Amino acid sequence: MTKRIVVTGGAGYIGSHVCVELLAGGAAALVIDNFSNAHPEALNRIRELAPGDLEVLERDLADPAQSEDIISAVRDFNPDGAVHLAGLKAVGESVTEPARYYRTNLGAALTLIEALDAADAKNLVFSSSATVYGDRNESPVDESGLTGPTNPYGRTKLFIEDIVRDIAHSDNRWRIVNLRYFNPVGAHASGRIGEDPNDIPNNLFPFIAQVAVGRRDKLQVFGGDYPTPDGTGVRDYIHVTDLARGHVAALDYLAAKKTGGAVDINLGTGKGVSVLEAVAAFKRASNRDIPYDIAPRRDGDIAEIYANADLAQKLLGWRAEKTLEDMCADHWRWQSQNPEGYQS
Ligand code: WQD
Repeated sequence: MTKRIVVTGGAGYIGSHVCVELLAGGAAALVIDNFSNAHPEALNRIRELAPGDLEVLERDLADPAQSEDIISAVRDFNPDGAVHLAGLKAVGESVTEPARYYRTNLGAALTLIEALDAADAKNLVFSSSATVYGDRNESPVDESGLTGPTNPYGRTKLFIEDIVRDIAHSDNRWRIVNLRYFNPVGAHASGRIGEDPNDIPNNLFPFIAQVAVGRRDKLQVFGGDYPTPDGTGVRDYIHVTDLARGHVAALDYLAAKKTGGAVDINLGTGKGVSVLEAVAAFKRASNRDIPYDIAPRRDGDIAEIYANADLAQKLLGWRAEKTLEDMCADHWRWQSQNPEGYQS
C-alpha cells in the first residue's frame, strides 16, 4: 500500500532529500512550503531524481489566514502521516528576533497538528535538533540527556517536542518521533540537490564549500582555544542522505507501531569531528585551498557534542553509513556543479 506523506518544508535542504528517499521508495508526497528559504527549482530536481507522485502546496503554515486552506488540502491528500521540517532555523537570527521565531515555528507546528487531526493521520515525524541538549551533557549524548537549549531557535525545538508529547498524551492514536538531528551536511550523490542558504551561510560546511568554490575569501574559525584535541569546536556531522533515510525508517516504525506515544531519537554518527578536521577533509575532497583565520569564539557555541545513536539502531534499524569523506565529496560535487546554488 503506497504511503502518502505530507512533507512540510519539503523544498528545503533536508526536505528535498527526504522527498527523494520517500518517492524512490514508492511513497506519494505532498510538499507544503512557503519558499522563504527554498527554491522552486529544487522540486524539479527532486522529480528528476525520483519521478513519482509529488504534489506541491505553496502556503505558509505559520499564517493563520492560510490555515483553513492547508487543513482542507491535507485532508484531500488523504495522508498516512507527515514529516514536519518547515521552520526558521538560524540560531543567531533567533537571538535578535525571538518573537518571530516563536510565532513562526510554534504556529507552523500547531497548524500541521490541526490538519493531521482533521485528516485522522496521526503519525508524525518532527525535525528536532541536538541543540535541545545545550551544553549540559558529556558526549556521546543519549536521549536521556539533560535538555537546556541556549537560544530561542533551540527553545522552539524543545517547546514543539513538549507540544507533541502533550498531544500524544491526550490521544493515544498519535504516534510521534522527535528526530534530534546533529549536524546535517553533504548533498545527494548526484550533485543535483543540496544546501543553498540565503545570504551568508551561518553553518560551517556551506561556508567552507563557498570558500572552496571562490564565493567567499576566507573561513573564520570561531575559537581555537576550546578544551578539544585541536582547540576547535567538535560536532557530529551526519550526511543528509543518511538523515533522510532515518526519516523513512521513522515513518515505517510509526506505521508498524501498535501503541501511541512520542519518542525522542538522536540521528548522528556517534563520532566527533573538529572544525580543522572538517577543513582538512574538505580540502582533500575538493583539492581546493580553504584559507582560514582563527577568530574569537561565537556567542552561544559549545565546545563539543556528538551523539550516542544506539536507540535509532534499536528502534528504527537505522545507522549512519556515510563517512566524512563522503560528506565532503558530495557537498563539493553539489557546490561545484551549482556554484550559485539553484539560481545557477
Ligand atoms: C559547527 C562548528 C562553529 C561556522 C547549528 C544549530 C543546529 C543546526 C546546525 C539547523 C561550530 C564552527 C561555524 C563558521 C566556524 N541548525 N563554525 N565558522 O552551531 O553546531 O549547529 O547548526 O538545522 O540546530 O545549533 O553548526 O555549522 O554553525 O557550527 O568555525 O563560519 O563550526 O563554531 O564549532 P552548530 P555550525
